[in-house]
Amino acid sequence: MSIFEIIEKDGAGRIGRLKTAHGIVETPTVMPVINPNINLIKPSEMREFGAEMLITNSYIIYSHEDLREKALSLGVHGLLDFDGPVMTDSGSFQLSVYGDIRVSNSEIIDFQMKIKTDIGVPLDVPTPPDVSYEVAEKELELTNERIAEARRIVPKYSDFIKSSESCQMLLAGPVQGSLYDDLRVKSGNFVRELGCDVFPIGAVVPLMSNYRYSDLVDVIVSSKKGLGPSVPVHLFGAGHPMMFALAVSLGCDLFDSAAYALYAKNDRYITVNGTYPLDRLKHLPCSCPICMQNTADSIRKSENKEELLSRHNLYVTFEEIRRIKQAISEGRLLELVELRCHSHPRMLDALYALKKHGAWMEKYDTATKSTFLDCGTFSSHRPEVIRFRNRLERFTVSGTSIIRSGKTSIDRNFDNLFSFKPPFGAYPSELDGNYPFNAEVSLNQDEDVIETAISNTIHLIKQNPDAEFTFVKSKQLRFIPECFFNELSEICKIIDKVEQDTVNEFENNI
Ligand code: GUN
Ligand code: ZN
Repeated sequence: MSIFEIIEKDGAGRIGRLKTAHGIVETPTVMPVINPNINLIKPSEMREFGAEMLITNSYIIYSHEDLREKALSLGVHGLLDFDGPVMTDSGSFQLSVYGDIRVSNSEIIDFQMKIKTDIGVPLDVPTPPDVSYEVAEKELELTNERIAEARRIVPKYSDFIKSSESCQMLLAGPVQGSLYDDLRVKSGNFVRELGCDVFPIGAVVPLMSNYRYSDLVDVIVSSKKGLGPSVPVHLFGAGHPMMFALAVSLGCDLFDSAAYALYAKNDRYITVNGTYPLDRLKHLPCSCPICMQNTADSIRKSENKEELLSRHNLYVTFEEIRRIKQAISEGRLLELVELRCHSHPRMLDALYALKKHGAWMEKYDTATKSTFLDCGTFSSHRPEVIRFRNRLERFTVSGTSIIRSGKTSIDRNFDNLFSFKPPFGAYPSELDGNYPFNAEVSLNQDEDVIETAISNTIHLIKQNPDAEFTFVKSKQLRFIPECFFNELSEICKIIDKVEQDTVNEFENNI
């Protein structure tokens, strides 16, 4: 029996159910980070925002005597006064910031078991970006030794459900390897084969703080290649809702947000398109209870400014999670990713990085969903388009064929009818109206979208050298620059004008 069940899929993203000793959590979700020393919002209030699970730091608890004693006697749930699932991080992050901590791997694992955390983390080494390969490799070895040691200490889920083991802690197996793709893949493979339960992708905070979202995409994809498609993946330290859709589309299931509190502390108001310094806000672009009961000015002047901002930040964080889940259910996650990636030039770079990984994503994507809306940059690299290109090999065409963008008066003179629609190109007209050819596409296409459509059409024609093709360049295709027809005209007859009875759906939009 698996602790993680995938219910719905879109792109490499999914809605899943994660089983823990304190209940089932629906993913994707965000765990608000609770600092047991300071909290403006009580853990018990977190459900009000949509939180199902929290994360706190076992090293902070361990290093403060009063917290440690309380956690040992009441458990971490009693300490926080929260009865849902709680994950605890180790002191790794402190280790990466301060260079040294006063606890060993086995001690902190043992402590997390004693305080009955639902998901415990070993003392991995968060190797920063831009270190040498040798350093990354050496630190990964140390990380892996510690995870293996933790795996020997913590009973496996399959064992504790069979026996009456009192410890029911799931073990997180962090993936490290800095920016080296092969190390990330190796690291992912290692923790999966070791039989960890939850899989955080580590050391991405410096990438996010420096807006290196395209590097982040590469790190997630290589880690996922090692982890495989079926395990729950946590993106460590990712709490800004602007990048959730992107990370979910790549197969991340869990996030943790300290951002809601850290941004609030610095007078920053989070939106899904980025963050505003409170000083710059004249209006509040949000309908959460805080924003409906306040103005930008009243928040600025409030004694509880930090708390009000924290609350707003949490509302928008969970609103985005619900929006992402709805998008997955509708098969529209990639449209949301396009939208979010236009929030910041560095996010747009991430979208370009995503293009490289279209073929990888295609392997994960479900074969049928609802209409796809073409929104630009990524469209010719979407799984549907890549899959269509791969399947072109399966068409065997003989006799005469017409390729056109809607029914024409000369259709009856041909043996086969093909419809032309970017970014696909030519496809058999019997499939008109069926997914994915029912795509709603824009009439002003980027060059790479036209190029994909024309190149797929050329591919189809070249696959069937004995068949004869005629392409109708109707006025509806005027958005395609002349030069795109050069190669096509060498292998296929092109006619410029023909009376058109109907136009297909995308031309009807004119
Ligand atoms: N928090 C943010 N990044 C990391 C990481 O790489 N490892 C651990 N344990 N915690 C983190
Ligand atoms: Zn708000």
